[in-house]
Formats: sequence, C-alpha cells, structure tokens
Amino acid sequence: MATIFAFIFIFFSLIASNYAFDSLDPFGNITITWDYFSDNGDTVDVRVSIYNFQLFRHVEEPGWRLGWAWKGDEVIWSMLGAEAKEQGNCTRFRGQQKPHCCKKEPVIIDLMPGTPYNMQTANCCKAGILTSLKQDHTKLGATFQMNYVKPSDSGPGFTMPENFTLGIPGYSCGTPFQVPPTMFTKDGHRWQQVLETWNVTCIYSQFLASPAPKCCVSLSAFYNSTIVPCPTCSCNCQGLPGATCVDSDKTSVLQPPQTNRGEAAAVVIRCSHHMCPIRIHWHVKQSYKEHWRVKITITNMNFVKNYSQWNLVVQHPNLANVTQVFSFNYEPLTVYGKLRDIGMFWGLAYYNDMLLTHGENGNVQTEVLLHKDRGKFSFREGWSFPRKVSFNGDECVMPSPDAYPRLPNAAHVVITSFNTIFFSLLLILL
Ligand SMILES: *[C@@H]1O[C@H](CO)[C@@H](O)[C@H](O)[C@H]1NC(C)=O
Ligand SMILES: *[C@@H]1O[C@H](CO)[C@@H](O)[C@H](O)[C@H]1NC(C)=O
Ligand SMILES: *[C@@H]1O[C@H](CO)[C@@H](O)[C@H](O)[C@H]1NC(C)=O
Ligand SMILES: *[C@@H]1O[C@H](CO)[C@@H](O)[C@H](O)[C@H]1NC(C)=O
Ligand SMILES: *[C@@H]1O[C@H](CO)[C@@H](O)[C@H](O)[C@H]1NC(C)=O
Ligand SMILES: *[C@@H]1O[C@H](CO)[C@@H](O)[C@H](O)[C@H]1NC(C)=O
Ligand SMILES: *[C@@H]1O[C@H](CO)[C@@H](O)[C@H](O)[C@H]1NC(C)=O
Repeated sequence: MATIFAFIFIFFSLIASNYAFDSLDPFGNITITWDYFSDNGDTVDVRVSIYNFQLFRHVEEPGWRLGWAWKGDEVIWSMLGAEAKEQGNCTRFRGQQKPHCCKKEPVIIDLMPGTPYNMQTANCCKAGILTSLKQDHTKLGATFQMNYVKPSDSGPGFTMPENFTLGIPGYSCGTPFQVPPTMFTKDGHRWQQVLETWNVTCIYSQFLASPAPKCCVSLSAFYNSTIVPCPTCSCNCQGLPGATCVDSDKTSVLQPPQTNRGEAAAVVIRCSHHMCPIRIHWHVKQSYKEHWRVKITITNMNFVKNYSQWNLVVQHPNLANVTQVFSFNYEPLTVYGKLRDIGMFWGLAYYNDMLLTHGENGNVQTEVLLHKDRGKFSFREGWSFPRKVSFNGDECVMPSPDAYPRLPNAAHVVITSFNTIFFSLLLILL
C-alpha cells in the first residue's frame, strides 16, 4: 500500500514540476525551419531543417520522424537527404514516373550515414540523431530538400502545411509562423535569400514523454555509514502491471529483442526496489581545509541499452566553485544569467562516452573537487547533496530530504567549531 502511495506521490509531483517546462533548460526547443527557395509554377522546392536548440537534451536512436498535414492535395514529387516512410496511394498518377509520396500526412525519416552521394544534401543523413548545443553543436541540425506539387486549387503564393510532429515521445509542436527569410551564400561572396521562411517550435515535456521517471538518485557521505537508497518505486513498482524486470542471475539466457529501424528498443531492467533503468549515486567523499570532494557514479540497470553520448545535469550551489572534474567533461550552464549553480557532465570521447548495458558492467564515474564557499559551505542539513539531477534530459527522483545522511552529533560540533576557528583566524589575519 505504502509503495503505491509513494508512486502516486511521485507521479503527481512530476505532473506539477515537469509539465512542458524544464527549469534546467527553460528556453530549450527544437526548431523546424521551412524555406521556400523556388517557385516553378506548378511545383515548389523547399528545404526543411531541424535544429536542436536544447542545452543538453539530445535526440537519440531511433531518431526523429517528421510529420505534417498538407492543407490540400499536395504530393511530394522527389526528396533528397531524407525519405517518406510510406509512399501512400499514388494511383491517380498514371505516367511512368510515380511521386515520392502521396500521403495527406507524410512522415519523413532520415537517411543513414553513407547514403549514396546522389541522394544526399548538405547536412543530412545522420540516422535521425541530433546532438545538443553543449555536446558537439556541429551535429545539432539536419536538412533535407523536396520538390512538391502545389495543391490543384491554390492561387498564387504558398500554403504552409500544419500539425507538425517530430515523432519523438514528449515533444509537441506549435503552429508555423513566418520569420524573416533565411539568407544563404552560394559561392561565398553573394548573399541570396529564399522566398519565404517559416519556423515551427517544438517543446519537450518529460511528463508527455512518459509519466514514469527514468532515473533515481542515491546518497552517501564519508561521515555516516548509511547509504540512502533511491526511493522505493521511483520509476515503477515491482508487481504492478507493466513492471517487468529480470533478476541478475537469470540474464545468461537474455537476448536483446529485435527491433525494426525507427522503433525504440524495449527496456529490460534489473529487478530492484526502485525499478529505474539508471541510478545516480552521489557520495560526499572527503573534506579538506579549502576543498571537498564528491564522487558521482552512474549505473545502467538496463540489460539491452547502451547509452551513447549520455549526459548528466546537476544543480548544487557549490558548482559555482568547481576546481577540478576527473574523467568526465564538465561545463557550467548559465541559464538565468547570474546563477552559476547548474553544471553538465558528459563522457570523454572513446573513454566513457558510452554507458554500457548492465550485463557489461555498465557504470561510469567521476570525482569532483569543489572549493568551499566560506559562509555557505556546510555538511549540515543536506547542503552537500544535489538539489536536482537529470540524466539525458529527464529529471531523476531524489530521496526525501529527511532521509539524507546526517552528521553524527559529535562530528558536527567538531566541524562547526573548526569552521569558527578558521573564520576567527581569518578575521585576525585580516
Ligand atoms: C528556441 O531556442 C533558441 C536557442 O536557445 C532561442 O533563441 C529561441 O528563442 C527559442 N525559441 C522559442 C520560441 O522559445
Ligand atoms: C490539424 O489538426 C486539427 C486538430 O486536430 C484538425 O482540425 C485539422 O483539420 C488538421 N489540419 C489538417 C490540414 O489536417
Ligand atoms: C487510391 O485512390 C483512388 C482514387 O485516387 C481510389 O479509387 C482507390 O480506391 C485508392 N486505393 C486504395 C488502396 O486506397
Ligand atoms: C527560426 O529558426 C532559425 C533556425 O533555422 C533560427 O535561427 C531563428 O532564430 C528562428 N526565428 C525565430 C523568430 O524563432
Ligand atoms: C553495447 O556496446 C557493446 C560494445 O560496443 C556491444 O558489444 C554491444 O553489442 C552493445 N549492446 C547493445 C544492446 O547495443
Ligand atoms: C564561489 O563562486 C561564487 C560565485 O561565482 C563567488 O562569489 C565566490 O567567491 C566563489 N568562492 C570561492 C571560494 O571560490
Ligand atoms: C546517519 O544518517 C542517518 C539518516 O539520516 C541517521 O539515521 C543516522 O543516525 C546517522 N548516523 C550517525 C552515526 O549519526
């Protein structure tokens, strides 16, 4: 019973905190840009680009699948740099050549890297994967081109389609709006502009993606032997319908399920009380005079998924004073201008940028050395633990603050008095 209540509680707190707004990346969005670059009378050439303007959330396998609804009887005659998933009913075209896609609501998928050159466009063919602004911003966009037949009843000008979708769980797209036309340079000297440009903005909501969280946080500290585990039922409860898991001793028979291109792989996780595919452990490891040290471990509890290009975003007031980060990349995120308490960690290329499956000892670790911010730093009241943690852009479930490892009473006196002595000394010296 208690576990069900815990689950309901987490469920509703997620609704409250995550509905289409991420305080760690408040302006993040994916923008679709639709450039009309030539009008040939009965057909039109357009170039469509998708840009991931999110600080850390990336688009991973199986990739984007861009959809929209034509307002009239438009058909896509040809396409470069991507392809329509289905051709649809093209029987009304009797000639030798058939259009590329006759569907009223086409769905476009990306091509694979290494596609023949005559099917490519500049900036295409990435299997639908987009990186984020912080992790390799050279690969955050994708572009394709198409030629389509104008609707039979259209007058002059263009009719922009509507109801755009990205085909990635959690994103919803707004209505297209016209923006100043894109400028482009053909030979590096002369700037030309397209005829019309329209943008569509798509926003992520963790709750729309999945009502259940995908990661949880456990805590420990050198001054207390208690390890505070992930809350029970953080992501699901064992025994509830839909909660499937595998005990770790039965995995020798496990085969990764077969998936078709364009479908997400099923999650097969190790049984645990929290039922999350990802666990983040934050350990307050050591305290020095001027610094303190935290060890962060990310554990993959999923047997069938390698997380490539994973990222971790943490909010903690002392991240403004990071001295050194070992074996991960680190960059502070400045989202609200002055507050520098949010930082992003990700793996080093060819070393730990791939978080392997649980069966392959899937975990990655870092140690972070932080400069004590005098006047603020404390081991008391859970100050040394993170305020918020997100993995791959999804917020993780934290233990409740009243369960945090507590300072033993004696030690707490020693540490505080040490602080006071240090401060008095400092004042005397000054
Ligand atoms: C989308 O993100 C970009 C980059 O952060 C930002 O400049 C732009 O204002 C955002 N668009 C919307 C509609 O929020
Ligand atoms: C777009 O979606 C709305 C609401 O579902 C629907 O009424 C409208 O007909 C759709 N537009 C097209 C062109 O299908
Ligand atoms: C395809 O469209 C034609 C009309 O253009 C219609 O007669 C035919 O039944 C359609 N075929 C299918 C399989 O929907
Ligand atoms: C439209 O999208 C482009 C990306 O292609 C972006 O640079 C531009 O800022 C967007 N314009 C508006 C008004 O959102
Ligand atoms: C995960 O990566 C390892 C090493 O690259 C590979 O051997 C394994 O097949 C991958 N597993 C899955 C499920 O993709
Ligand atoms: C920590 O960072 C804050 C904000 O940047 C700064 O005001 C403070 O002086 C720093 N403290 C130390 C000990 O570096
Ligand atoms: C360690 O922390 C736990 C959880 O807050 C607390 O119950 C326990 O008393 C602490 N241990 C010591 C030795 O203070």
